Amino acid sequence: MITHEQNEYLCRTGSGTPMGELLRRYWVPALMAEELPRPNCPPVQVQLLGERLIAFRDTQGRLGLMDEFCAHRGASLWFGRNEENGIRCPYHGWKYDVTGQCVDVPSEPAESGFCQKIKLKAYPCVELGGVIWAYMGPPAEQPPLPSFEWVHLKPSQCFITKRWQESNYLQAMEGGVDSSHVSFLHRGDLNSDPLHKNTAGAKYARSTNTVFDILESPGGLLIGARRNADPGFHYWRVTQWLMPWYTLIPPYKGHAANGHAWVPMDDYNCMAWTMTFHPVRDLSSEEIELMRNGAGVHAELIPGTFRPTANRSNGYLMDRVAQETGKFYSGVRGLAIQDASVQESMGPITDRTRENLVATDNAIIMARLRLRKAAQAVAEGKRAPGLDEEAQSVRSASFVLPVDGKFKDVAIDAVKVRKGEHHVAV
Ligand code: FES
Ligand SMILES: [Fe+2]
Repeated sequence: MITHEQNEYLCRTGSGTPMGELLRRYWVPALMAEELPRPNCPPVQVQLLGERLIAFRDTQGRLGLMDEFCAHRGASLWFGRNEENGIRCPYHGWKYDVTGQCVDVPSEPAESGFCQKIKLKAYPCVELGGVIWAYMGPPAEQPPLPSFEWVHLKPSQCFITKRWQESNYLQAMEGGVDSSHVSFLHRGDLNSDPLHKNTAGAKYARSTNTVFDILESPGGLLIGARRNADPGFHYWRVTQWLMPWYTLIPPYKGHAANGHAWVPMDDYNCMAWTMTFHPVRDLSSEEIELMRNGAGVHAELIPGTFRPTANRSNGYLMDRVAQETGKFYSGVRGLAIQDASVQESMGPITDRTRENLVATDNAIIMARLRLRKAAQAVAEGKRAPGLDEEAQSVRSASFVLPVDGKFKDVAIDAVKVRKGEHHVAV
């Protein structure tokens, strides 16, 4: 349980809020690169940290991300014409380049210098690992580019989707931090989902007597969840939580690894990004097809949108028969929508003054504390944690150890990124 003030502190991410200022020190996954597929393609609306923005790729292929609304009288630049190295508002023809600078006000004589004085707020962007990243913080604090393992793999080794979740980012991310729910909420799927089944992990993860061993890492937490395996052995799942909004799910044997980014759109909505990647092989077309249809930890989406087919408006296509038989433990199909459904059911911002936390929530407690401390540090002029390669270039892992095995030593070694080598997974 935390106080109302602490909850507000962690959940509010608008400009000028402590958490908003912290989150603006990181590169933000803003769009999938394929949303802006070519020069002069249609502009795309993007909502990040409570700011409504427009993204476009200009004639030279440069990326622009700026205030969605025209500086003249506020029309949305989503209606804009992306032409000749800028986006032109169709209402009265004002035009802006990728830096947000107004470059043409047709009604004013060019020699008046009027348009030079007009500039929309704009943020630098880079394209890396199939993602367009934005930096929304103070220019002097811009960090090095992201160095997560998946951003440096070949495109054929990585598959990325994103889905719109109707809740604050924190309760979504806390679902990623809390791996004890796997034995319940996802129980029915572990041995049927094509991207989990036939692994020792899928068998042991159903065991419900989870005990946690949590280590602080440079960029977050290394969360060990211990379950009973065959007699004399423990099954360990090592989840990574990385500042400020990433979780890496423990992999299952030969299957690809999965990670999420839980990025606030505003305080009541977040974008749940899912990255599936294999460190040593390409993903097969069969795997990709399955993921597009909602297998693994991806969601099936309404075509042309990032809204899941099963969503709040249709009761997540609840199947009570599947619930009763245990096919889907909660009656909701698919791991991603199982998560989304329970997290959205908690309300747009869950009231954490009313919760009753237990030992399996320790990682959540520690992550909240780390976030709060990091926001305080940034408010005091210090550097945000987790910005460098040492913090970001890590893996999740799963392994079996004898009951007297040393978890810490094995885990710290297992989560090292070894380029071209398989992840540690059972
Ligand atoms: S509102 Fe955009 S040009 Fe007038
Ligand atoms: Fe989950």
